[in-house]
Amino acid sequence: MKTIVVGAGAMGSLVGALLAESGNDVILYDIAKEQVDAINEHGLVIEQGDGRRTVKMKATTDLNRLGTADLLVVLVKSYDTGAAILGVKSCIDAHTKVLTLQNGEGNIDAITKVVPPRQVLAGVTSHGAMLLRPGVIRHNGGARTFIGPVDKGDDSWAKEIAQLLNGAGMDTRVFLDITGTIWTKLIANAAINPLTAITGLCNGALLEDENLLKLMESILEEGKAVAEAQGIKLFRDDMFEYTKSVCAATRENKSSMLMDVVKGRRTEIDAINGMVAMRGQRYQVPTPVNTCMTRLVRSLEKGKR
Ligand code: PAF
Repeated sequence: MKTIVVGAGAMGSLVGALLAESGNDVILYDIAKEQVDAINEHGLVIEQGDGRRTVKMKATTDLNRLGTADLLVVLVKSYDTGAAILGVKSCIDAHTKVLTLQNGEGNIDAITKVVPPRQVLAGVTSHGAMLLRPGVIRHNGGARTFIGPVDKGDDSWAKEIAQLLNGAGMDTRVFLDITGTIWTKLIANAAINPLTAITGLCNGALLEDENLLKLMESILEEGKAVAEAQGIKLFRDDMFEYTKSVCAATRENKSSMLMDVVKGRRTEIDAINGMVAMRGQRYQVPTPVNTCMTRLVRSLEKGKR
């Protein structure tokens, strides 16, 4: 299955490398020349625990080198999804399947403006990965990945893609309620990402601070109420336990939002806590803690620490 991974950040590079390592035909596409050049010259170096390995794979900044994909995996930042999918439109034909494993809400809408919903698959993954420098990532573990078809009905090809990901070492299940899956992860991200971005702590350190755990609980309670008001069924009743388990599984990871703040980049706060607050307003559910997190992180973005 010819796979194009769009976005060669930490997660895009990790997913591309795992697929390449398990013998698939993969190419990474990104406009970040430094990352692409480093991967082409030296391979992608993956640090994990005390180990280090190099995965040889193709990467390009040149759209003309891509051709048509059987599977196109979107792993750009949520605010870039619309532009990215339009950019790679020439790689998508009537048989191409498009999979988003991005954080936050809004990615499916952006993708289905360009690709028919019957070709789109969405999901979430709890893997923690950090880009250390061009061509070098750190994989800090992770839990299960869930994927499912956007247009419910035939899930046979979702099973085929889950098999591909399982073969690449990503423990993946097909889950038909994609909205519930995305909101479950979104609410967990809402509790982990801003708290790490504001404090500078790794995911696991949140578990050792009772003040942060209290804030985490409040963020989760608001998120659950907003999901319920929208009629969204979360796939976990125990959101606090689930979120703590994601922190434990990615203990050493600096969250994507912390890395964005450290690097002076825009964060995904609007697609995560900002989305909880916006939907809360629409459904008249108070979300003071998520609103506070959104404002604090926006302020950090402005400061470009
Ligand atoms: O955004 C992230 O960093 C990740 O979704 C997660 C799972 C919180 C790991 O750091």
